[in-house]
Amino acid sequence: MSNTFYTEETIEHFRHPHNFGEIKSPDGYGEAGNIICGDIMSLYLKIRESKNKEIISDVKFRTYGCAAAIATSSVVTDLVKGKTIEEALKISKNNIVKTLKGLPPIKIHCSILAIDALSEALFQYLKKHKRKIPPELKKKHEHVEKEKKSIDERYRHWQLRK
Ligand code: FES
Repeated sequence: MSNTFYTEETIEHFRHPHNFGEIKSPDGYGEAGNIICGDIMSLYLKIRESKNKEIISDVKFRTYGCAAAIATSSVVTDLVKGKTIEEALKISKNNIVKTLKGLPPIKIHCSILAIDALSEALFQYLKKHKRKIPPELKKKHEHVEKEKKSIDERYRHWQLRK
């Protein structure tokens, strides 16, 4: 789904982003960046056990980036809240683009940034708890790490949080 311009949904999320901010001592933290535009996103997860399931009870983000990066960050936090880890792992860029009723083709990578930050936060959580990491998630993590390293070399001190 692609549009030439930002949809009303994108403008609304950009103007009034949901779940903006950070969580102190998050259970999962993810950071992702895009080497081409230099945009970066941090995502914080709070995870609680309920009826033998791990539920994402709270989520916040901080993003340095374009209007689409802010809007996709906002949407990913909405999509992930209240989900189990397994459900969160299934969220894709298509879910974000669909929620926004489309993005200009040149802005599709902004939705990937949001998914990368989410994947990183889930990866960190699973790793911290010495849990099995799905091969797809590991692959994504390696890609994000490589991207972050390149960004670090190109734009020194880009990290939002250390
Ligand atoms: S222009 Fe790069 S994330 Fe939006």
